[in-house]
Amino acid sequence: MQRFLALAAFVPATLAQTYYGCYTEIPARALTGSSVIDYTTMTLADCETHCTDLEFDIWGLEYGGECYCGNALAQGSFPAFATDCTMPCPGDETLATVCGGPNRLSLYGTSAEPPTVTPYPHDPVTETQYEGCWTEVSGGRALAGATAFSLSAMTTADCGAYCLHSGFTWFGLEYGAECYCGGALNVNSTVAVETDCAMPCSGAPAEVCGGSNRLSVWRWVAPVVEGPEVPDEE
Ligand SMILES: *[C@@H]1O[C@H](CO)[C@@H](O)[C@H](O)[C@H]1NC(C)=O
Repeated sequence: MQRFLALAAFVPATLAQTYYGCYTEIPARALTGSSVIDYTTMTLADCETHCTDLEFDIWGLEYGGECYCGNALAQGSFPAFATDCTMPCPGDETLATVCGGPNRLSLYGTSAEPPTVTPYPHDPVTETQYEGCWTEVSGGRALAGATAFSLSAMTTADCGAYCLHSGFTWFGLEYGAECYCGGALNVNSTVAVETDCAMPCSGAPAEVCGGSNRLSVWRWVAPVVEGPEVPDEE
């Protein structure tokens, strides 16, 4: 009996804790409830304890030692590439646990369901359409909005989701691992021969992710509405 009591004293009040993934930070903070920063001793448990003691449902670890709590994600925070979160938690001697990354949150919470995401505003689009292989521009970017990289997890769908969540309807994949977003292609980008785009995507070898200075360009479009046939006038 005594043995059970002794054990119970060491078992923390366990909450249902779910890892939701690696999420983007925003300049004004994705989680604004409370924060604690410690670049030398932070652990996943420290952040969970800090946030749940204050009765927050969601918490995220960023840049190794930063812990943020909240009950909802601010607009503009959304799932990023898993490989963006790779900074070890400094308080874990094994360095086996991950505490986010630069501008990325390893996001946890008490609910089994991930929190609602509110993307940046964008047109009501639902489908992607391939626009061809296009040249990169010198001294700039063919698509100059948001940027994402992943040496092991880049896919066409993930780049498309990343760009749409960032508020951009055009997206392009370059050099196998790079994702660029924009509102339109730079006027100096020109269509290239299709065979110039031949590099496999780092996260999906069967997909093409551009080439050297070449982008596989896609665009989000509204669904095609099947309307009634318009009769010929005559
Ligand atoms: C297009 O190229 C011209 C000539 O190099 C340059 O002056 C101009 O700024 C470029 N336009 C854009 C939008 O980058």
